[in-house]
Amino acid sequence: MPDSAPHAAIELRAENVHRAFGARRVLNGISMTVTAGEIIAIVGASGSGKTVFLDHLIGLLTPDSGRILVADHDAPPDPSGHPPLVDIASAPTETLDRIRLHWAVVFQRNALFSGTIRDNIALLLRERGEFSDQQVDARARAAIAAARLDVADVLEKDRDELSGGMAKRAAIARAIAMDPIVIFYDEPTTGLDPVVAGNIHELIWRTHHQPVGSLFADSPAPPNPPPRTSVIITHDKDLLRRIGPRVLMLDAGRVCYDGPYHRFGGPDCPQARQYFQAMPVLHAGRPGERD
Ligand SMILES: Nc1ncnc2c1ncn2[C@@H]1O[C@H](COP(=O)(O)OP(=O)(O)OP(=O)(O)O)[C@@H](O)[C@H]1O
Ligand SMILES: [Mg+2]
Repeated sequence: MPDSAPHAAIELRAENVHRAFGARRVLNGISMTVTAGEIIAIVGASGSGKTVFLDHLIGLLTPDSGRILVADHDAPPDPSGHPPLVDIASAPTETLDRIRLHWAVVFQRNALFSGTIRDNIALLLRERGEFSDQQVDARARAAIAAARLDVADVLEKDRDELSGGMAKRAAIARAIAMDPIVIFYDEPTTGLDPVVAGNIHELIWRTHHQPVGSLFADSPAPPNPPPRTSVIITHDKDLLRRIGPRVLMLDAGRVCYDGPYHRFGGPDCPQARQYFQAMPVLHAGRPGERD
């Protein structure tokens, strides 16, 4: 990965992040840099701190020590021509709110708010202030269809009327609808049947590679879109196999592997090898596999 290349634009950076809850030390010095345009999977045993780390990356939690830096795409570029990095803990609220408009998050527990799925998608889109009501509606429909939900069935349904797998896909639809620069997925395929999970792998892949601003037909592609960055927390070995991302593995609050998927499970990190072997193959052997 070109993390250290001087010309690479940085999207996210964690510097020696520590975090404890009471006596439980969850993050014990996590450092990593995500270059703009990367697709990175964060893996690790249940309880290893993946979601807590994500909450730090998006500023919902603050480190006890260490820093989280994020790219500010709306600020004048730095001397190397890239978006400047902002310390999420000390940035003014308005700056963070502005930065967050370029992000979308699929939360592990979906975090759909009370209301219809149309409302869930429309609210965030309206916050951007760029779309007419008609565009918002068209986008909501397109995003729901892309997440393999029946538009007519779910558009007006309340979140409480959805099954677990439907709610997961609604949360994915809400995120995709934003056509964001950075998209975070916390376990996007957990609870989905193998066929739908395969569709979601493809959606994640397609979304990542489509230029920002051109996911939907409703707006013209911007002239020089920033590359899209995808951060995926997952236990889904098949997703890893199909997408082949950079893999970052957390163990005991530290990064125990950070490298390409094809070397994950190799000799560098015994925990990674053990975990990789134990990871369930959820959806093996279907057509359309990338390897
Ligand atoms: N708000 C909190 N207060 C106290 N402890 C917390 C809090 N949030 C998380 N933890 C603890 O931090 C540890 C890591 O939790 P986290 O949710 O990040 O795990 P995870 O790696 O995402 O696991 P999973 O794969 O099951 O989702 C757990 O021991 C959890 O109990
Ligand atoms: Mg989690």
